[in-house]
Amino acid sequence: MGPLLSPLSRGRYDGCVSQPLGVAVLGSTGSIGRQALDVIRQLPDRFEVVALAAGRNHELLARQIAEFRPRFVAWEGDAAPALATLPDGTQTIGTEEMAIACDVPLIATAGAAGLMPTLAALRAGKPVAIANKEVLVMAGHIVRKAMVDGGGELRPVDSEHSAIWQCLWGEEGHAIRRVLLTASGGAFRDLDEAQLAAVTPEQALNHPTWNMGAKITVDSASLMNKGMETIEAMWLFDVPMEKVEVVLHRESIVHSLVEFSDGSVKAQLGVPDMRLPIQCALAYPERMPTPPAPALDLAKLGTLHFGTPDMARFPCLRLAMEAGREGGTYPAVMAAADEVAVYRFLDGDIRFTDIPIVIDATLRRHTGVADPDLDAVLEADAWARQVAASVATGAHA
Ligand SMILES: NC(=O)c1ccc[n+]([C@@H]2O[C@H](COP(=O)([O-])OP(=O)(O)OC[C@H]3O[C@@H](n4cnc5c(N)ncnc54)[C@H](OP(=O)(O)O)[C@@H]3O)[C@@H](O)[C@H]2O)c1
Repeated sequence: MGPLLSPLSRGRYDGCVSQPLGVAVLGSTGSIGRQALDVIRQLPDRFEVVALAAGRNHELLARQIAEFRPRFVAWEGDAAPALATLPDGTQTIGTEEMAIACDVPLIATAGAAGLMPTLAALRAGKPVAIANKEVLVMAGHIVRKAMVDGGGELRPVDSEHSAIWQCLWGEEGHAIRRVLLTASGGAFRDLDEAQLAAVTPEQALNHPTWNMGAKITVDSASLMNKGMETIEAMWLFDVPMEKVEVVLHRESIVHSLVEFSDGSVKAQLGVPDMRLPIQCALAYPERMPTPPAPALDLAKLGTLHFGTPDMARFPCLRLAMEAGREGGTYPAVMAAADEVAVYRFLDGDIRFTDIPIVIDATLRRHTGVADPDLDAVLEADAWARQVAASVATGAHA
């Protein structure tokens, strides 16, 4: 097991002793960001919002600023009438500085936006609560190096990785035989190939259990999200891809499992509610006195189901796992091609079943770079976006 965690030092940001813990929420207007603010709202004596960053939902960000009165804020785009007047004591700042000027940054942006703040915080020795999986998919080796060099730590927010993390508490030094990631199967788990080709963006955005942002909801339906999570697990827990497996579990109650060298399997269970892993990541190593979500009632549930994912109907899972095994720049290319394809699908330009075709064609055209530095990763990302866009246009024609 790699050096994932170290005991938390808490209580200090920007030179001031802070009690409660100062949290910077990057991506505060998104699904994870809003749920994180819910957690913080319910525990005002434990957590305080010291910084908020968002993209283009300036109206919601303005309301959040008025409620939480953070010291630092950031947003995308220059002209933001809703943000023309900030409260006294609130100033704008870059997201990298923000990630350092707090006790714990929560990286809840989507896509590549969370990469630089994550690196900055880890290099500064901060614990980072990370939801933004694309960061680990595209540059996991760079993120790990920043963590080891800077003495920071990564605290998973994704429910599956939070489950694995919790299964590993107290297991330091014990060999992992397998990491078993559970997958609900997404909105289209029961459709055949012909039905999959005909699904609409509206249908794809209707996830059976989780309420998430648009990109991750489509990724869940294609199982690309689960594929990315296998790569995320590899980097977070320092296990080879060969030891990471996916198990279908439609109820989303068992969030993931770890099998140890002696065959013993540990699992973490809970209702599907992201506030629980968010709270865990912020509060570590403590457990908070109150649950943020309703209690789990196993007797009421009665039965839990498990199965094997169908890689033929859901090729995105296979493509992601292959890219993870290949390593180098392949995961970054895969993630960038997926992002392009998903947004083209959401815009109605390509079919749902064209998403893996665009990713596969982009990966096949790529000549990988082994052990890439950050520039090589960003170059591969930009290259893949261009190629995927032209492949998607071809698929549409
Ligand atoms: N949602 C879930 O249940 C879930 C579970 C596990 C992991 N994750 C991962 O968590 C991440 C966030 O997911 P989500 O569902 O919360 O996505 P989302 O709802 O699309 O939210 C994304 C957030 O990032 C903000 N953003 C975009 N560009 C930004 C920039 N340059 N600087 C600062 N903020 C920026 C967006 O702002 P605007 O809205 O203002 O444009 C929004 O607040 C993803 O990587 C996802 O894979 C999500």
